Parts: sequence; C-alpha cells; structure tokens
Amino acid sequence: MTPIPSTHGTHQQGSTAPEMPPRVTVPVPAAAAAPSTRQEERVADTLEFPVRNGAPKADVPLGPTGRPMPDLPTPQPPAEHGDARVISMCNQKGGVGKTTTTINLGASLAEFGMKVLLVDFDPQGSLSVGLGLNPHEMDLTVYNLLLQDDVSLDDVVVESGVEGMDLLPSNIDLSAAEVQLVHEVGREQTLQRVLRPALDRYDVILIDCQPSLGLLTVNALTASHGVIVPLECEYFALRGVALLKTTIDKVQQRLNPGLEIDGVLGTMYDGRTLHGREVLERLVQAWGDKVFHTVIRRTVKFSDSTVAGEPITSYASTSTGAEAYRQLAKEVALRCLGE
Ligand SMILES: Nc1ncnc2c1ncn2[C@@H]1O[C@H](COP(=O)(O)OP(=O)(O)O)[C@@H](O)[C@H]1O
Ligand SMILES: [Mg+2]
Repeated sequence: MTPIPSTHGTHQQGSTAPEMPPRVTVPVPAAAAAPSTRQEERVADTLEFPVRNGAPKADVPLGPTGRPMPDLPTPQPPAEHGDARVISMCNQKGGVGKTTTTINLGASLAEFGMKVLLVDFDPQGSLSVGLGLNPHEMDLTVYNLLLQDDVSLDDVVVESGVEGMDLLPSNIDLSAAEVQLVHEVGREQTLQRVLRPALDRYDVILIDCQPSLGLLTVNALTASHGVIVPLECEYFALRGVALLKTTIDKVQQRLNPGLEIDGVLGTMYDGRTLHGREVLERLVQAWGDKVFHTVIRRTVKFSDSTVAGEPITSYASTSTGAEAYRQLAKEVALRCLGE
C-alpha cells in the first residue's frame, strides 16, 4: 500500500493521538492580557464614553444622573378628571422596561389620585398578563376596537385591579392589525380616532408600544402628546436610538406636529458598576434635561411582581422599585401634566 503523503508536517491522518504543532508565542499587549474588567473598559473606549476625573466637585447632593436632584412635590389629585395627556412608552428594543414602566408609572399616578388608562399596544400582551389577565379569555381587545366600527371603547375597557386605573387589553390578535390597517383610510390615525372618547374621562393615557417601529408604533406616536423612551443602562442601549429619534421626528413632521419627547428614562441601572454610571452620563450628554432624574434600578422584584400579576407598587409597596416609580410619577406630573 502506498503511504499517503502528509501535507502538514507533523499532522498524520488516521493517527489517534496527533502530535500538536509547536506553540508560537505572540507578544500580548498588556491591556488584552488583563481580566474582563479591562475588556469592559475597552468596549467603553470604542463607544467614546467620557473619562471620569474623580468624584464630582459640587456640594449639592447629586442624583444618579450626575445632576442635582430637584424637589419633586407630591401631585395633588385633580379637581376634575379629563383632558388626558397621552404618552407612549417607546423603544424598538425589547426588554428595556417599556411594559414595566407603563404598569408602574400608571399605578403610581393612580395612587396620586389621577384617572389612568393603560393601552396594551403590543401583540405579546405582556401588559395585560402583567396585570393578571388571561390572554385566551379576552372577548374583545384593542384589535377589535381598531378594526370593527361596531365595537366601542366601553366594550373593551376593563378594570386593571388598581383603583383609578383601567386597561385596554391585547393579545396575539393585534399582530394581524398591522397588516389589516394598511388598507384602511387614515391608517396611521386609527388609534388616535378610537381613543378620542377616552380623553375627557382620564387624566393620563399610557400606551405600551411593541418593540418595533412599524405601523402600530406609528399609530401610538400619532395618538400621543408625548413619548417616554425607556433605555436600559447598558453599553449598547444607545444603539438604535438615532433610528427611534428619526421615527419620532418623521411622525412630528408628517402626522403629529404637537408630539413631544416627555423624557428618557434610565432603567435596570446598577449603581455598583462603572459602566452603568457612564451610560447615564452619556445619556445626559446626548439628551440633556430630557433625561429623567429618576432612574430605575435593577431588581428581581419586577419579575416577581409580573408573575404575581400586579404592579410593584402594590406587590412590594415599600420596595425601592415601587418608590422609584412613585418618584418618576412625580417627575412626569411636574414636567408634563401641569402639576
Ligand atoms: N428595573 C428592572 N430590574 C430588573 N428587571 C426588570 C426591570 N424592569 C423590567 N424588568 C424585567 O425585565 C423584563 C423585560 O421588561 P419589560 O418591561 O417587559 O420590557 P419591554 O416591555 O421593553 O420589552 C421583564 O421580565 C421585567 O420583569
Ligand atoms: Mg413590553
């Protein structure tokens, strides 16, 4: 038998224990040899995070965003309800806290005596499930309200389990609306049209958007006076924000000139990490005063309360998460509800 010539020196085909090629020592730069914290810093470098030069000098107590915390008065219950401000929670990234913010900001505003309507505008129906509804047991949902002329707001609104807060629920049916709405006249204004009767009854309407910038989200932005952008305090949080801003600008120019950015909210913040603080610093650089002073810390209590089907403000009423959303509610009231 003719032996098969080896093309790779010491490598021998069929050998059970091939001899390893000799190791080549490549000089490793000091930074690359360092442990993972160095790696994190290098990611930060590529994103051009500002270099921190020690502790801030100001004597005033600074909030987590590096700015002095303002006094936030407790909002007074409105003398009469109505003239609702419609606010969308919007970010095309999933898992950034849109649904959690909709539920808990809404529940906190309701605690302060406001009448609140939550709109589940995500076919995943997480908002509805997070308030204890069973997606398979819903007769009528936002989908029916959008596409059936004989279905009214009152037919679809349900109580949320929180006093003063109602809900327009959704389930997977809503995913068909995106396609069906394409053929409607005034397709971008459909949600705005069906929500009109709610404006005189509620003080705030919060719309939980789906993680995309498609027709449903454009509907939400068209129906809104303001938009809140929740952003996870992670390195890559800012990716895609330019696209979101472009969408908001386009809706402003073409469909809803009054649309305002009510605020940018840092979520899932971990104050122990340098990069969490840097992301917040970067947010303030990019968005200035639009960034809420309130920041929502990362805590497992949020997932626990979702499982329990209620807001953290009732599930763990005195937790830091509940307090953070009450503080956000005060800030929202002060900034954009004329408190
Ligand atoms: N501050 C937080 N700390 C820890 N977990 C959170 C926090 N906010 C939300 N979560 C959890 O993260 C997941 C995604 O949040 P969610 O609000 O559903 O995001 P989105 O609606 O943007 O997809 C959920 O399981 C939620 O319970
Ligand atoms: Mg969601």
